[in-house]
Amino acid sequence: MNKVLVSLLLTLGITGLAHAAGDAAAGQGKVAVCGACHGADGNSVAPNFPKLAGQGERYLLKQLHDIKSGGRQVVEMTGLLDNLSEQDLADIAAYFSSQQMSVGAADPKLVERGEALFRGGKLEEGMPACTGCHSPNGAGLDAAGFPQLGGQHAGYVAKQLTAFREGERTNDGDNAIMRTIAGKLSNKDIEAVSSYVQGLH
Ligand code: HEC
Ligand code: HEC
Repeated sequence: MNKVLVSLLLTLGITGLAHAAGDAAAGQGKVAVCGACHGADGNSVAPNFPKLAGQGERYLLKQLHDIKSGGRQVVEMTGLLDNLSEQDLADIAAYFSSQQMSVGAADPKLVERGEALFRGGKLEEGMPACTGCHSPNGAGLDAAGFPQLGGQHAGYVAKQLTAFREGERTNDGDNAIMRTIAGKLSNKDIEAVSSYVQGLH
């Protein structure tokens, strides 16, 4: 095996061990308050509340840390995580991740443009395809912290892309991966690609 790949696998393995392991069964008993907005199993009904079901465990835990610390501002969740321990957060992430995200439908009028962006990017502007990180079926790659997009509410996805573009969501790391990508998307692009991923599975 190639040396770079071996060291990458080792690094991923070691950082994996450094986290408190989440217990999905214990987590189920800690999410009553979350269900009001996100749905008891993490499949929310309203499009402004993200689906958490089936989302990557590592990604969920990172968002919980960021929301708790204020690195990502979610006013609707103000104070909700304050009394939760590190173990509670890990258990909750494990629980929602163990559920299955429901799939929605894409607007047929937007599919062509959405698919072209998702699968082809905008190479003339140096914007990579979404598939490179979020995978061709939208499942993401949790070991690398790339979230699942397939099935997520279009309204929520569009809000995030706009927030990255406008610099209102800044927890995408020092490389500002998503802020850079969203900076190349027009409002119409965002509408199309968000609709497309809602129906993707
Ligand atoms: C009053 C409604 C409400 C409640 C209750 C609530 N949330 Fe949220 N949550 C939201 C909203 C709204 C967002 C998205 C905000 C945005 O648009 O950036 C969110 C975002 C999230 C995200 C980020 C999802 C992603 O895809 O990035 C996670 C994780 C999360 N919530 C977990 C929880 C957990 C765990 C609880 C219970 C302890 C909880 N939420 C309770 C409204 C709520
Ligand atoms: C180079 C890798 C990479 C590419 C390419 C990429 N993303 Fe992302 N994306 C990420 C990472 C990493 C995050 C998580 C940031 C964080 O930790 O908050 C993310 C987060 C997101 C989120 C927020 C998800 C949520 O649940 O809140 C959306 C929406 C998103 N990306 C859409 C897209 C779309 C649409 C494209 C293509 C136009 C794209 N991404 C291309 C790496 C990438």
